[in-house]
Amino acid sequence: MATLECVTKAYGRLVVHDSVSLTIRRGERWCVMGKNGAGKSTLLKMVAGVLPPDSGTVRLGASLKIGYFAQQALDLLDPDLTIEEQLQADFPHESIGVLKSLAGAFQFSGDEIDKKIRALSGGEKTRLVMARMLLEPPNFLVLDEPTNHLDLTTKEMLLDALRDFDGTMLFVSHDREFLRGLSNRVLELGGESGTDTQPREYPGSYVEYVARTGHEAPGVHR
Ligand SMILES: Nc1ncnc2c1ncn2[C@@H]1O[C@H](COP(=O)(O)OP(=O)(O)O)[C@@H](O)[C@H]1O
Ligand SMILES: [Mg+2]
Repeated sequence: MATLECVTKAYGRLVVHDSVSLTIRRGERWCVMGKNGAGKSTLLKMVAGVLPPDSGTVRLGASLKIGYFAQQALDLLDPDLTIEEQLQADFPHESIGVLKSLAGAFQFSGDEIDKKIRALSGGEKTRLVMARMLLEPPNFLVLDEPTNHLDLTTKEMLLDALRDFDGTMLFVSHDREFLRGLSNRVLELGGESGTDTQPREYPGSYVEYVARTGHEAPGVHR
């Protein structure tokens, strides 16, 4: 689905990735671990195609349809639109009934879809962004800390939706349930020491990673 070959990325003199290679195959669900500043978001941006590497190549499968979620996506919503207007702008060919049931599936009931986006909480905005992303499901999800603003109920809902997703995933999360419930591969930036130049790949799930290393990854919480 995606191949990184000798990818190097620096911001000025700060080298974030130094000749990193990774192959992501169909059906794999990689969680990307690493301490703050390790380069998780940078890696996801390069895979999602919003940030070019300085050198090396990022190759994506021909039939790939990427859905990319980043925290910045919340700021790209038009604050002057209502939820309904935003969905109509995104999906002009869908009936209002379809859009209402999409909104309903993401817990926006009845007249809530008349709320202006500027009045939404971070959790509500996250739900709206996820709803837009999943109406026409991508086959490759790239998710950067999707649970940050979510309350417990919404988190469970999103977790259920993503469990049913049968495509490929590359995601960053500090949420233990997300990591345990979704990953079948682990990429540890900075390696085991946290400071290695090369990431370390675990061929199993986060659950197996914890069993093998004997500890949760740093910064992981419920
Ligand atoms: N646009 C940017 N300009 C300069 N430095 C950046 C930029 N984006 C990220 N960085 C720096 O690069 C490093 C990796 O950032 P990031 O990929 O966001 O890490 P993570 O998501 O693992 O916390 C951090 O030290 C961060 O401060
Ligand atoms: Mg980040």
